Amino acid sequence: MLDVQNLIKQFKVRGAAAVPAVDDVSFTIEQGEFFTLLGPSGCGKTTTLRCVAGLERPQSGKIHLRGRAVFDARDRVFVVPNQRNIGMVFQSYAIWPHLTVFNNVAFPLKAAGQRNVKSTRDKVARALNLVGLSGFEERPATQLSGGQQQRVALARALVKEPDLLLLDEPLSNLDTKLRERMRSELKRLQRELGITTLYVTHDQMEGILLSDRIAVMNGGRILQLGKPDDVYERPDNQFVADFMGSTNLVRGILRKEVGAAALEVVETDLGPLLCSFAARLASGSRVVISVRPENIKIAKECAPDENNILEGQVKERTYYLGMVEYAIDVLGCELRVRSAADGAEINGNGTVRLRLAADKCVAIAVDKGEQSHEIAATV
Ligand SMILES: Nc1ncnc2c1ncn2[C@@H]1O[C@H](COP(=O)(O)OP(=O)(O)OP(=O)(O)O)[C@@H](O)[C@H]1O
Ligand SMILES: [Mg+2]
Repeated sequence: MLDVQNLIKQFKVRGAAAVPAVDDVSFTIEQGEFFTLLGPSGCGKTTTLRCVAGLERPQSGKIHLRGRAVFDARDRVFVVPNQRNIGMVFQSYAIWPHLTVFNNVAFPLKAAGQRNVKSTRDKVARALNLVGLSGFEERPATQLSGGQQQRVALARALVKEPDLLLLDEPLSNLDTKLRERMRSELKRLQRELGITTLYVTHDQMEGILLSDRIAVMNGGRILQLGKPDDVYERPDNQFVADFMGSTNLVRGILRKEVGAAALEVVETDLGPLLCSFAARLASGSRVVISVRPENIKIAKECAPDENNILEGQVKERTYYLGMVEYAIDVLGCELRVRSAADGAEINGNGTVRLRLAADKCVAIAVDKGEQSHEIAATV
């Protein structure tokens, strides 16, 4: 449906070396899919979206929409934005304050030369109905709440029944409750219409909850692309492990055993730990184990020869959304542990035994530039 290949967009800034805002980005979105570009501020999300919309002209790469080239640097193809049949909601909603709700939503139709009054009225009514704003037609845009403005922007993006919907952080200006409600409404609407959606956010929870697939970006590049649960549970690199939610990172050296199955041993300062997903790494590599706080359990009892058991000292106990988060010192390294338990398994002197789920301990290569760090655990 949308095919983006080797996209490079570099801005010329006077007096500074040009650094690509988008640096060799490729991804494909299937018909009806909800696809998210997720990453920190400045990583190139908006620029990628604007290239797809035709609002930026990249230096190289290709963009195909429904099999048609809308951009191809080599063949000098550039289709202007209003010929791409794309609906877009901007980071700021960019609705016109001097127009009514009706005229804001009708704007793209009029701009495209639609003169049929009845057809315009029907299409606007349908779009406003979709976003729950029927009856607001004559309301001036200035007399709308933030959530309502956001809906007007969405109705305006949908009114031409676009092939592709581009959404740039559409919920970021809303308060938490409204953001949650709009998030589920958006998901429902996208499912109902079956509209192919390219979404941009820096909020990992939003990305996880909304998307069929996620591309995690940093520094203009896609660092990992996959289903939300895969990206969360099997990060390919340290940046993704850290960006997708809190995690414990324990450095060590991978020791592969000949004929070993899915699990591998990593020698760490905390002792040998069994972990998984090290298939692509060579024995002897410096690695970091990522294990999320919810995948470390406080163990009541354990067998004498059990693997992945650590002993530690509770340093801090914090309430965390129906759970307790512990900061636990293990041989000078602090591990974060989230537990539904009431703390009964903590010994009188504050010591605990921890069980690290081996299938949730993910071994990943140490990011470049970090090779010289000493073996340590960080959160
Ligand atoms: N018109 C421009 N001129 C020069 N540099 C730009 C321009 N637009 C964006 N950039 C730079 O390109 C990089 C990527 O910007 P972009 O707006 O795509 O980031 P983003 O991921 O959308 O960030 P945010 O989450 O803050 O919106 C940044 O370093 C930014 O400063
Ligand atoms: Mg942006």
